[in-house]
Amino acid sequence: MTAPTLAFDVYGTLIDTAGVTVELEKHLGAGKGGHAAAEFSDRWRLKQLEYTFRYGLMGRYRDFRVCTRQALDYCCESSRADLPAAARDRLMECYLELPAFDDVSAGLELLSRARVKMLAFSNGRPDDLEQLLGSAGIDAHLDGVVSVHEVQTFKPDPAVYRHFLARAGSTPRDTWLISGNPFDICGARAAGMHALWLRRQPQAVFDPWEFAPDAVAADLVEVARRFAGAGARA
Ligand code: LAC
Repeated sequence: MTAPTLAFDVYGTLIDTAGVTVELEKHLGAGKGGHAAAEFSDRWRLKQLEYTFRYGLMGRYRDFRVCTRQALDYCCESSRADLPAAARDRLMECYLELPAFDDVSAGLELLSRARVKMLAFSNGRPDDLEQLLGSAGIDAHLDGVVSVHEVQTFKPDPAVYRHFLARAGSTPRDTWLISGNPFDICGARAAGMHALWLRRQPQAVFDPWEFAPDAVAADLVEVARRFAGAGARA
């Protein structure tokens, strides 16, 4: 049996985008009910993804850093959060230093003992991903990084999943996307890959589409247990 290749989505899977909340609280305070910064962070993330979808559909690629900054500016305007340019610049720097989810180090460590190939696969720019994964301390476990930047479009464009397979030298049958983002899972399944949905929030609902995940796990340690059967690495 060919050793499986695991394609790890980054933002929302390995890396916690809600990590910006700490910096946002300095500007927005805890707010009404103590949720202002967390709500802003959620809106920012959704807008960022919306921009990737829109640029992708329009065939007018702008990189993920641009989408993130434009989404931040949009959210500042729409929520009337009067954040000066320096504060917005600092938030963008935070995006390069976001933390890994708590289970990631242990999960990747366990997986590195199995006979699997592990690559990061993300909408992020290659230089941003290098900095982000290094600063989160999880780059050593990965065999490489594949960025959509290399094909100038975004997930879930089928071109990016084909690009991943070409870069990894793997077949759809032997390749698993591990992602916390349902739209990414649907994209991988539509491209013929296997996909495991990391259900980071127990209340999260999967899209009622025909591209359902092959498996679901709560965290990366559970993922590691699933692939432990791939055998110890030589
Ligand atoms: C990524 C997106 C989905 O890391 O956030 O590709």
